Amino acid sequence: MPETVRIYEVGPRDGLQNESGIVPTATKARFIELLADAGLREIEATSFVSPSAIPQLADADELMGAIARRRGVRYPVLVPNQRGMARAEAAGADALAVFTAATDAFTQANIGMTVDASLAAFAPVLARAGDLGWWRRGYVSTAFGCPYTGRVHPATAVKVGLRLLDLGADEVCFGDTIGVGVPSQVSALTGLAVAAGIPLERIAFHFHDTRGTALANVSAGLGAGVRGFDSAAGGTGGCPYAPGAAGNLATEDLVYLLDASGYETGVSLDGVLVAARFIADALGKPLATKVGQAGGWDPATGASTGRS
Ligand code: COA
Ligand code: ZN
Repeated sequence: MPETVRIYEVGPRDGLQNESGIVPTATKARFIELLADAGLREIEATSFVSPSAIPQLADADELMGAIARRRGVRYPVLVPNQRGMARAEAAGADALAVFTAATDAFTQANIGMTVDASLAAFAPVLARAGDLGWWRRGYVSTAFGCPYTGRVHPATAVKVGLRLLDLGADEVCFGDTIGVGVPSQVSALTGLAVAAGIPLERIAFHFHDTRGTALANVSAGLGAGVRGFDSAAGGTGGCPYAPGAAGNLATEDLVYLLDASGYETGVSLDGVLVAARFIADALGKPLATKVGQAGGWDPATGASTGRS
């Protein structure tokens, strides 16, 4: 039996939130549909944050109504506070992610709170979501490094992760928000997290490929026993000019690695390439990811696959 790895797709949310040109709601809904067609079973759909903080996702309420939701697919949404929770409930969400960071400086810049204050703000949100039976994720951003304060000790990130689990999160996702982490740090963080009592199945990693280390970091995570990774079809996010160059780890790159390594993901690489091409076209940019350009590869024939 091949081992299973969960791929948590963040393209519709993390991938698009940095894009300055507003993507129509129907295009976002279609993107999400193509991702589900590709076999992705966890698709972070949008954010119920302040529309002035993230104008691109101001249509969250409408988008949730526009998605043809499928049985067996989870569509988590980002929620920063009780106001966001009320909106998410009204929109019919049934899974959420709250998001803080390893450093106060980043948390302050992102959501206007210290880490402690953010955890206090999430407590009633996570409690309410728990009462409703929602799946709950807690993000720890800047787990490997902070753009304002530099190096982050893995123990600091793990401490925040433990607090999110104490508040009821089902999973903690450690994010390399600015793409500075390297494999040895991934192994170290995982080891510390497990030693602190976080079960491997409740750990996920969110890597950015800003410095080309994302897939190496996934390998280190796999080696340490982690089986949940985030990625964005088309490698969107980060750099506004070249999808894939500095954004989220691309789902197509991740799926290629996992498939060829013998892991079961339930995700079709060809299907992901369709979704990746769709969103690149919608953004009017070339698809710059590695596998987006080269395609997959059929070892039976030697030919590349999924290129058009
Ligand atoms: N949904 C919609 N509007 C919201 C909201 C929510 N969840 N939370 C707050 N607002 C509105 C308030 O009503 C207020 O509106 P007004 O200016 O028209 O009166 C405004 O946003 C500011 O609210 P305030 O409570 O003073 O919060 P703030 O300015 O300190 O902002 C956050 C805090 C968390 C709402 C804001 O920083 C945010 O949404 N950040 C999200 C950042 C993000 O998504 N980053 C990427 C993910 S890693
Ligand atoms: Zn990201």
